[in-house]
Amino acid sequence: MDQNMSANTGTVRLGAAIRNQFPSLAREQDGRPVVYLDGPGGSQVPRSVIAAISRYYETSNANTHGSFSTSTETDAVIAGAREAMRDFLHAESEATLSFGANMTTLNFALAHALARQIRPGDEVVVTELDHDGNVAPWLMLAERGAVVRWAPLSPNQLELDMDRFLDLIGPKTRIVAMGLASNAIGTITDPAPVRAKTREVGAILVLDAVHYAPHRPVAVQRLKPDFLLCSAYKFFGPHVGILYGAPGALARLATDRVRPQDPVGPTRIETGTLNHAALAGVTAAVDAIAGWAPDGASRADRLTAAMEAVDRYEAALFRTLWEGLAAVNGAVLYGRVPGTGPRTPTLGFTLHGQDSEAVAAELGRRGIFAWSGDFYAVGVVDRLGLRGQGGLVRLGLAPYNTEEEMARTVDAVREIARGA
Ligand SMILES: Cc1ncc(COP(=O)(O)O)c(C=O)c1O
Repeated sequence: MDQNMSANTGTVRLGAAIRNQFPSLAREQDGRPVVYLDGPGGSQVPRSVIAAISRYYETSNANTHGSFSTSTETDAVIAGAREAMRDFLHAESEATLSFGANMTTLNFALAHALARQIRPGDEVVVTELDHDGNVAPWLMLAERGAVVRWAPLSPNQLELDMDRFLDLIGPKTRIVAMGLASNAIGTITDPAPVRAKTREVGAILVLDAVHYAPHRPVAVQRLKPDFLLCSAYKFFGPHVGILYGAPGALARLATDRVRPQDPVGPTRIETGTLNHAALAGVTAAVDAIAGWAPDGASRADRLTAAMEAVDRYEAALFRTLWEGLAAVNGAVLYGRVPGTGPRTPTLGFTLHGQDSEAVAAELGRRGIFAWSGDFYAVGVVDRLGLRGQGGLVRLGLAPYNTEEEMARTVDAVREIARGA
């Protein structure tokens, strides 16, 4: 694959062609560039995002709704971030987008509000595949007498058992919480059948798009969730959580609010002062992604083109990585084999007889940055029975990774497997 302009990305610039936008990629260890395969834990950030955050503090730092210029500029920064996320998620309007500290905090706020509608015996469905950020907030509803049902993994432990999942959704179901993609093993789950069933019974659908959004376009008007959450720091932005609420959905909730807070629109669930500088960075991140696609179309369309190309670019790199690792003696790979079902370019692996934390540390010594453990995807690691072995080693690709980095990673894993 040509690393400047990868296969099938058309005129979208990815891989080596965008690396100079990310200053942290210049970091070296022992005279070699670092390989960042820790994207599912947080991606690297373009210079334009860093500049937007600095610029906010240099020029416009104030609180909101004042009658002086820095304050009106701050209002504009927040409005701009809502517009950027409207385009990124292909939402109906900027009024559907709320911000918070991170996905988990926003989801707890959402669960807190929904808890006020829960009656003893109501049912809530969560999944074994999800990150705990979309599980724990809903488990909390048991305190209100809700019955929690678990959608199980299928016997191959790589995906949800959709038939059993759908069977759990019935007339008593109030909320179904599921992820679009597993941050541990990359499995993508199509929410369409769950959406259909939740509509039938009148339940609320909450989608976790945190791991999906950095890899494929998200179109909320096609997915039609009641709520969807993602995190900008996974798609080249700063640490900000984003909540999409379908038109009218938030207005029906009794959210936690201070009395002067505007109860109308996205502010209904935003408590206290937002991280204004980071919101300037969110807009810059969305613009950076749109900037990978050619000019001439709307930002929303350029985002679709860019994210479709990201998916193709990463899938090709990922296949190389998967095939290289699959050939390493003693390596066991977890996740759908590329080509056998929808997935993100994130895999979990173990090395025979080795603790995964020790393997990740060995990779780190070689300048290859990767996570180990359960990554808060508690159910997956438990079901795989890997708790005693330090969980999984996770390798996750981003559009700034290259073929050369894949080869280096496979060589390093081979060495570690040999005990070299
Ligand atoms: C799939 C998934 N959901 C939720 C979260 C939690 O996101 P945040 O750190 O913004 O709370 C993560 C973070 O790793 C994640 O990967």
